[in-house]
This record gives sequence, structure tokens and C-alpha cells, in this order.
Amino acid sequence: MKKEMLVAENTYWVGYVDDRKVPFHRLILEKGTTYNSYLLKTEKPTVIDTVDISFGRDFVETVKNHIDPEDIKYIVINHVEPDHSGGLPALASKAKDAIIVTTELGAEELKEMYKLHDREFLIIKDGDRLDIGGKTLRFFETPYLHTEETMITYCEEDKVLYPCDIFSSHVATKELFNDLAAEDIKEDFDVYYKLIMHPHRPYVQDMITRIRKLDIEMIAPSHGYILRENVDKFIDTYDEMSKPSKEDKEALIVYSTMTNNTKKIANYILEGLEDKGIPAKVIKADKNTNIDEIKEAILKADAIFFGSSTRYADMVGSIEDVLKELKNMDLSSKLGVAFGSYGWSGEAVEVINDYLNESNINVVDRSLIIKSTGMDDVQFPIRIKFNPDEQGKEMLYKSVHTVGDLLVG
Ligand code: FEO
Repeated sequence: MKKEMLVAENTYWVGYVDDRKVPFHRLILEKGTTYNSYLLKTEKPTVIDTVDISFGRDFVETVKNHIDPEDIKYIVINHVEPDHSGGLPALASKAKDAIIVTTELGAEELKEMYKLHDREFLIIKDGDRLDIGGKTLRFFETPYLHTEETMITYCEEDKVLYPCDIFSSHVATKELFNDLAAEDIKEDFDVYYKLIMHPHRPYVQDMITRIRKLDIEMIAPSHGYILRENVDKFIDTYDEMSKPSKEDKEALIVYSTMTNNTKKIANYILEGLEDKGIPAKVIKADKNTNIDEIKEAILKADAIFFGSSTRYADMVGSIEDVLKELKNMDLSSKLGVAFGSYGWSGEAVEVINDYLNESNINVVDRSLIIKSTGMDDVQFPIRIKFNPDEQGKEMLYKSVHTVGDLLVG
């Protein structure tokens, strides 16, 4: 075994170096990448993240160099995209009793993606701890960094943060650690941040605030170099690059949903805003909602999308509790958009629009769009029957891009 494969005490890199030009998110990674996976060989052996779906078999062979997979107790999945969860089916088929540790949404997605309905899952809530026999893992939910289900893992004894995509770089390096890199890694690190994380910068700021409270000696991400030299400098870089500037515009998406169709629309709106470089936060308004937090988020945002599905000709969830507050707030500098999914009729979207019109927000409707842009081929408010088909999605993106253009002016 190569000495460099040891990351921390009893902790081994068991990933895969992909030195091809890798197609990735509409890009080609000219320098390739790595899929970093880690085996913590404790009393309850634990694997943190896996490798790309193309290399599942190689991955299991690498794991076998260290341990009989049947002895693995936990497999932690921080992020379900297949470049990190893709080795899970191959590993899980050998690690027959391993419990899969992930967020609630992560579990739902993994079960569907890999037909793992019969496997045992341990569902993580923000801040949960897990004793793996000799080491303690803590988990923090980090939604939208960069997909909704993501979390990060911190090993208390080793002071190692395992943040999956966050703090990554795309380089097919065989040297694990940044202090062993033959070239300055700053450019690769910064480019990765800008492409993958920057569209979600309000969430980056939240994450930074939380990890600043941890004692971190090493960051072991899932692509590229493990950072063990100048760790604080890399955290500072994320902090600096994600700070809002005066010119930055931000959006907020608040919604209630009955069957998750309105949630899907909320996520498409988020993607459309990202296309325009406008970061957005997404908040589901349900019985656990803290109305004061939502009001604070509304006051910070430049455009707010309010959504609900329709049930019995009315809204669902707690979105109405939020809307009732609007008339007491100064929203005169902001754009407001109503949206929602419906089955038979779509009254909820119209009721939301009525609430917006009772406040002093600038309601994005047909009249405002024609006056501001002359366009008459986008639809506001945004009403979508069930789920948008491909044509509906294009129309939705076009509408959201129009709001983006209004914002950045
Ligand atoms: Fe490296 Fe979001 O996958």
C-alpha cells in the first residue's frame, strides 16, 4: 500500500483517478478529475462517499485491499450525484449489512436511482453525531451546495472535514495532498468554485458560518487535492468569493406543495435564475416554518417567487401565513412573482397574485412585462399543470430569465 493513501489515523483514500478528458455538466474537464472516497477503518468501519458510476468495480477492488467489504458497517453518502454515489450499488452488494447514512431526501433519491428499497438507511438531521467505534462523525445539512440533498461530514477526533463537492478541484492528481502538488492549485480551486458553488453563494455563506465553529485541520473533498496546508486560506477564499456585493441581486423562492410538483417548479426556477447568475434561496413554507425567518429573507431579496399548489380551489401549507404579512412590509423596490402547479384548476396562483397586489411589491404580471420589455410571449403568473413537459420547461425558463433580465436591468 502506498504511504500517501493514508489520510488520517486508520483512514485511507480508496478513490479513483480519472485522467481522461471528462465530460461534466456541459463542460470537458481538460485535466480530468478524481473521485475521492475514504475508508475509516474503525470498530464500525465506515466508507465516506464512493466513486463515479463508471468505476464501481475498480472501487470495490480498492476497498478490498484494505478490508473485507462484509465488515463495513456504514456507507456515508454526502451527495447523491453519480460521480460520488455511483460506486454505491457495487459496494452495497458486497457490504451486505452496511447501513447507508444520508439525508432524508438523499435516501429517497438513492433508493430510486439504485433500487435500494430493501436496504437499511440511517437518516441524518442537521448536527447529528454517529459513533463509529473510535471516531465520532458529525453531519451538517448543506442544501443546494450544490444540490438540494447534500450534507457534509466532520470527524471530531481527526479534525477532518469531508465536504464532498465543496472545496474540490478538478485535477487528476495521483498526489493526494495540496502541499505535494507540483503546481499552484489556486486557479483550479477558484475555477471550480465559480462554476459549481458560486451560483449558490448565499448557501456558501451559511456553510462558512457554521464550519468556522469547527476545529478543522484538514479538508478532504471528493474531487482533487486534500487540503492539509493553509486550510484557513481556502475557507477564507470561499468566504471572500461568496460575499454579496452591492451590485449583486438575489432572489428568494417560497412555496408550499401538496404532491411535490410545485417543489419541482421551484427547483426549475432556481435553475433558471442560476443561468442568469442570480443566486436564490429556496424555503418550503410548512407547519415547521419560522415566519420571522422568511420575512427576513424576503427583505434581503430583490425578487421573490411565491408558489403553491391548488387544493380545493385554495393554497396549501403555510404560504398564506407568509402572504398575510406582506402588506405590512415595505417591498416597493422588489419584484414579486406568483407560481404554482395545479391539476384541475389553478386558483392558488391567482390568490397569491391577489395578495401580492395588496402589498406594494412590483407584481410581475403581463402588464408589467409588456411595459418593461415589450414581450408578450411569456406567462405571468406562472401556472403549470402538474409537471412541465419539455416545452413547458422551456417556457418556464424563458419566464424566469425575463425576471432575471428585469433584475439585472
Ligand atoms: Fe462531484 Fe455534484 O458532483
